[in-house]
Amino acid sequence: MCMIMNFAIDLPGSSPCTSQVFIGRNIGSELSATLAPYLGERVAYWIWDENVFRIWKGRLQGSFWPDRENDRLLCFRASEANKRLSAVEKLAAELLQLGADRGSALIAVGGGVTGDVVGFLASVYMRGVPHIQVPTTLLAQVDSSIGGKTGVDLEQGKNLLGAFHQPQVIWMDLQFLETLPPEEFRQGMAEVIKTAMIGDTALWDYLEAHLESLKLRESEPLHHVVAACCQLKAKVVQLDEKETGYRRVLNLGHTVGHALERLSRYQIRHGDAVAMGLVTATKLAVSMGKAEPEVLVRLEKLCRAWDLPVRLPAGFSPEAVLAAMQTDKKYIGGRLHFILPVRIGEVMDNQDLRLEQLGEVLRALTL
Ligand SMILES: NC(=O)c1ccc[n+]([C@@H]2O[C@H](COP(=O)([O-])OP(=O)(O)OC[C@H]3O[C@@H](n4cnc5c(N)ncnc54)[C@H](O)[C@@H]3O)[C@@H](O)[C@H]2O)c1
Repeated sequence: MCMIMNFAIDLPGSSPCTSQVFIGRNIGSELSATLAPYLGERVAYWIWDENVFRIWKGRLQGSFWPDRENDRLLCFRASEANKRLSAVEKLAAELLQLGADRGSALIAVGGGVTGDVVGFLASVYMRGVPHIQVPTTLLAQVDSSIGGKTGVDLEQGKNLLGAFHQPQVIWMDLQFLETLPPEEFRQGMAEVIKTAMIGDTALWDYLEAHLESLKLRESEPLHHVVAACCQLKAKVVQLDEKETGYRRVLNLGHTVGHALERLSRYQIRHGDAVAMGLVTATKLAVSMGKAEPEVLVRLEKLCRAWDLPVRLPAGFSPEAVLAAMQTDKKYIGGRLHFILPVRIGEVMDNQDLRLEQLGEVLRALTL
């Protein structure tokens, strides 16, 4: 019998619901039985990242497979370039052709792109059908599969079309991470570091103490880190599902990060951009006297240990970064909600930031 950790995320909002989270390693054989009570009579349409499907179809030996008679399998080309409304439309047409109706359910198997696209499709297909997330990247396991944010990109920016649509079940099998390329693992670590900085001092200490075993992706430390991140994110979204206030803490490092990603036309990867955003926010907090310099020292050391950048690449003017930030969703009513670390494990929402102050920090951090 596999060891599976299970906890619930209760979302009491206007349409109350619960997401069940399951975490373990090599737990595919338990999947069908676990999902049965959630799916009931529904036909499930399993939508896989085609890359993950190609790598894993031979290894799974029957598990993670639509072993229920009527279930169907579809593949999706998961890339940021394909995280578009056109991909949603194409999948919807395929679903229709296969006979999916309001009594169906969707299951997303893949990284954050697959989860966001399939989650969004589930929110609009026949005005909404239930969905299940099976995240296969570190980023998707520690962050994107939790909390119900779904969506696609527009030419003008990321995630500009979307919906909150909570998954019924989030099934995390750490075995998927065995085949995750080192570069993707490194990108996910930026979100892990962010999560610890927001609200988990013990996780931060753990990351510092277990660096080598995490690099080897050993089961125990990986399980510890994924579970800690999921629980922290679950705690935040339970308090503020629709990001009307407290959930903004999860944007630590993302305001500058998203601007850098966009200015680079997505040549800078999300994790790298978040790392630069974390360093910028922390340096800003230190310069404003809101955090001790030691916080910045520890952050830079941990980022460097994961080869995450701690300086901004040459070629981006601070003015361009500031301008790009102002089209961000976090720029509300002319005010920028900028999350700053106060200490490791604690952040604050700063709403009266002087942009010149941020500009000075960006200048100081640019190579
Ligand atoms: N919804 C949210 O709350 C939220 C939060 C953070 C990020 N996101 C979104 O997540 C997306 C990034 O997610 P991602 O980093 O997982 O990217 P991704 O889904 O593009 O996956 C990265 C790459 O890894 C491959 N891959 C996935 N699982 C694998 C495995 N087990 N083995 C081998 N290869 C595998 C994919 O095919 C892809 O090439 C972005 O679009 C971002 O906006 C959403």
